[in-house]
Amino acid sequence: MFDEQVAIVTGGASGIGRAGAERFAGLGARVVVADINIEAGEEVVRHIVSNGGDAKAVRTDVREPDQISAMVDETLAAFGRIDVLVNNAADLSLLAQDDHLLNTDPDIWEKTFRANQLSAMVATKCVLPTMLAQRSGAIVNISSVDGMSGDDTRFAYSMSKAALNQLTMMVATGYGKQGIRCNAVAPGLVLTPAAEDGLPPPVRQVFDDNSLVPAFGAEPSEVATVITFLASEDASFINGEVIRVDGGLLSHVSLLAGMRSALREGR
Ligand SMILES: NC(=O)c1ccc[n+]([C@@H]2O[C@H](COP(=O)([O-])OP(=O)(O)OC[C@H]3O[C@@H](n4cnc5c(N)ncnc54)[C@H](O)[C@@H]3O)[C@@H](O)[C@H]2O)c1
Repeated sequence: MFDEQVAIVTGGASGIGRAGAERFAGLGARVVVADINIEAGEEVVRHIVSNGGDAKAVRTDVREPDQISAMVDETLAAFGRIDVLVNNAADLSLLAQDDHLLNTDPDIWEKTFRANQLSAMVATKCVLPTMLAQRSGAIVNISSVDGMSGDDTRFAYSMSKAALNQLTMMVATGYGKQGIRCNAVAPGLVLTPAAEDGLPPPVRQVFDDNSLVPAFGAEPSEVATVITFLASEDASFINGEVIRVDGGLLSHVSLLAGMRSALREGR
């Protein structure tokens, strides 16, 4: 599906990014794992190569535009083209200090936007000249359902993901006629090791009560299949779209879980 193509995955050393990087490689792409954690990135590359794929890890802190630009140059020097960019990296360590608006420190807001949103804007800007010269390219932004609904916590994170959705539509609008597609995936809960660690049983139950599929969260591979679909020719008529991969979390009325439990208790 991606033979002869080159895919960059930021934050490709872990979780959703890793699953995406490995899936692109399995489908024939040469993959650049651009991650701040170079040891973990090298481990992903070893895994890809041991399965017959081709990949390269490039240490990149996506908070630093110069490092993104250098990573894109390194990709071109190594592989000569760029067909896919997955803007996946985010600084999830900031979530612990990311509360509702009255508790939001502007510094946390800025750091969140720098890591989650400016990073995607800069990476997109860096790959666009190559993609425009090729007259083809696919960009997939990893957003979140948090950017599509209101909440009383994760204020900066949610706003950064909403901005990513807008970036998706702006890029599709600006460059779609020139062969560039830009779409986003908005996961709900994804069962990465880090996400699972922080999930006490009552919280799992809340997700389960609101999930419209048997599982309460997605495996990273279930997000990766949507990422590679959106990047592939199979999605040639999809542009500027945000696709939720959330087990139906945002598909039902907000009263659902509470109503079900009230009815259970009333029986
Ligand atoms: N896990 C979930 O439940 C979930 C839900 C919705 C959206 N998402 C989004 O999916 C994306 C991936 O999340 P994940 O759960 O797989 O996380 P993860 O922690 O498993 O992986 C994140 C990767 O990004 C890298 N990274 C962090 N800061 C970086 C930086 N400054 N520069 C470069 N790389 C950096 C980390 O080293 C790590 O390899 C994020 O954008 C996140 O917001 C995750």
